[in-house]
Amino acid sequence: MMILAFPDYLTQAQRLATRLNAPLGEVNLHHFPDRESFIRLPPSLPEHVIVCRSLNQPNDKLIELLLCAATARELGAKRLTLVAPYLCYMRQDFANEPGVAVSQRIIGNMLAGLFDDVLTVDPHLHRIASLDQAIPIQNAISLSAADEIGRFLKQKFDYALLLGPDSESEQWVATIANKIGFDYCIANKQRRGDKQIEMTLPDIDFLNKPVVIIDDMASTGRTLGKAAGLLQAAGSKDIYAVVTHPLFCDDAEAHILQAGIKTIWSTDSIDHPTSCIKLDALLANAIKAII
Ligand code: R5P
Repeated sequence: MMILAFPDYLTQAQRLATRLNAPLGEVNLHHFPDRESFIRLPPSLPEHVIVCRSLNQPNDKLIELLLCAATARELGAKRLTLVAPYLCYMRQDFANEPGVAVSQRIIGNMLAGLFDDVLTVDPHLHRIASLDQAIPIQNAISLSAADEIGRFLKQKFDYALLLGPDSESEQWVATIANKIGFDYCIANKQRRGDKQIEMTLPDIDFLNKPVVIIDDMASTGRTLGKAAGLLQAAGSKDIYAVVTHPLFCDDAEAHILQAGIKTIWSTDSIDHPTSCIKLDALLANAIKAII
């Protein structure tokens, strides 16, 4: 078995390789001036190769994954496992009007054709119950960072109120709150556009206690920003945020901090200065369970 890492996931892959006591190989990646990708793999691969890369900024990465998987097969890999802590293209899970590409199904089928196993963390599954409905293979494994996030929060706070910014977040927020004995509540959110969010907070007391907003990802940061603004208006002065996936597009991080959030923490699903909650133990245990 070999852990094969793309450069943007190398430090996390090193930790995973150490946990699994497996050799680490690196994908050599180059972009030509027209943005075509050149990739080179270690010329000698074992039968089982675990390809590691989070799929934020997905368009180039998906092509590179295709090149990588096909080349690994040519080099003799019999079993290919993808570890993609952040899984892309999960939003569009139905055709809300005629002609819309159901990208979750299309990209899911592509990954199913390339890999024998796919492992991810807190994927954005909304209208489907399990990951294998999007990626039709036996080992389509959806892990949760709830234990890791819960342990982290328990170390930081004796008590905090956890806030989920929308109904979809309840699955994570409730699990974390129940594990560590904190209270939680859920806001009501409507997204009107990429950066337009309407939200109402539940009618409870936010005074005199730390409030931690928890979500699966921060993309534009508008969800966290809106929640923080409303919390401040409700008198809350001690506001924090934890996300599994720190996508932080464009001005997202600055927007969140300006909105009154003191600190943002995230997992290392994507390398970022906020990524202090490590996922290697979770991923290593899941890999051990399938080999
Ligand atoms: C939405 O359903 C997700 O759970 C997140 O709340 C959302 O993707 C965050 O996006 P943004 O940072 O752009 O508001």
